[in-house]
Amino acid sequence: MPPYDLCIVVPTLDERENLGLLLERLRNALHGICYEVIVVDDDSPDGTAALARRLSRTQDNLRVLHRIGRRGLSSACIEGMLATAAPFIAVIDADLQHDETILPEMYRRIRSENLDLVVGSRNLAGGGMGEFSKWRRRLSQLGRRVSGVQRHAALTDPMSGFFILRRTFFERIAHRLTGAGFKILLDIVLSSEGHPRIGEVPYRFRLRQHGQSKLDLIVGLEYLELILDKLIGDFVSVRFVMFALVGALGAVVHLMLLGAMLKIEHLSFVKSQTFATGIVMILNYVMNNSLTYRDRRRRGAAFLFGLLTFCIACSLGVIANVDISAEAFRHGVPWVLSGIIGLLFSGIWNYGVTAMTTWRDRRRSAEHRAERRAEASALVGDSTLPAPVANAELPSKGSP
Ligand code: GDD
Ligand code: MN
Repeated sequence: MPPYDLCIVVPTLDERENLGLLLERLRNALHGICYEVIVVDDDSPDGTAALARRLSRTQDNLRVLHRIGRRGLSSACIEGMLATAAPFIAVIDADLQHDETILPEMYRRIRSENLDLVVGSRNLAGGGMGEFSKWRRRLSQLGRRVSGVQRHAALTDPMSGFFILRRTFFERIAHRLTGAGFKILLDIVLSSEGHPRIGEVPYRFRLRQHGQSKLDLIVGLEYLELILDKLIGDFVSVRFVMFALVGALGAVVHLMLLGAMLKIEHLSFVKSQTFATGIVMILNYVMNNSLTYRDRRRRGAAFLFGLLTFCIACSLGVIANVDISAEAFRHGVPWVLSGIIGLLFSGIWNYGVTAMTTWRDRRRSAEHRAERRAEASALVGDSTLPAPVANAELPSKGSP
């Protein structure tokens, strides 16, 4: 294997129809440059990873990183970038929207001008948004404003996902990256200390030919998560902030429900309060399950079991809340402050306990690892793999 000068990282999610064409275009564009390609695929249902593996049997500068149980454009790019030893790394979409013919120019500039980063920009003279819909342009502008990225670097297209960087620069910032969402370039720029040396090369954004964009509401949410993490992530976990926001929303709904039951339905206070509490607990569980913990989302039977542990944890939280705030109040703490102390305590309690029970990271649990290994050895038919169920890890399962 030659020592590659350039690595092209290609994140893919359902890009089977585009991949072959992209590789061919890269071959034409990068003539004379010693480069490798790393496709990072998140277990695409359309079999992109399998196709990439097949292609790599005849194209030996092609490698595949097949991730299972993971999602996310940014984290895919990061893992791809970490998997190469090449001194320069580029990221390009698989859907042919980025103009690969400017890669040699980007590569030339980063080296000859000794830059950290060269970005393909749609907003420079000579570039263009192409037929990007109006609302996507607006969204792009809004995103830029929210991020405050202009304070870090004068970039005309910080939302671009098309760039090339120097590995030494990437290694300096790699541990600070958030890795959430779609905007890896923004993550990189916001994570860099001081002012990175940046260049830009214009290009025209093309229309997607096959398949569809993966931008959706969740991706939008992940964008806010990225910005929040950059703002406050050093002090408090963004997951906790989201959990608290869901809780706050739940409190508002609770009061509205309570009011409606009392005033409109004329139910007793105890009945109304009990009903509102039950509904809001379920609502909070559903919202946390699909937003705050979407990466560990519980489905099917696990969904119901999760609901049960969530309700138990939160009920204990309420009891503690009342006890603690009452105690504070008895000792002369003003009622508002007592209330806040109780709320804070139960918020932290609920978050901590449900993180350890309801949304415990199952991938790290011994049982899950053992299951995975059993599946893998069954698949490969490999008896050299360690025994699927290790007694040391699973004492309760009680095999000999
Ligand atoms: N591995 C992996 N995992 N790849 C992903 C994922 C994911 O969860 N989501 C999307 N991709 C891949 C797609 O297969 C494609 O190659 C690339 O990332 C971009 O995804 P699109 O779905 O085509 O996104 P887009 O066209 O809306 O957004 C692109 O344009 C923006 C410009 O505004 C992205 O390139 C952004 O990074 C870019 O900034
Ligand atoms: Mn695209």
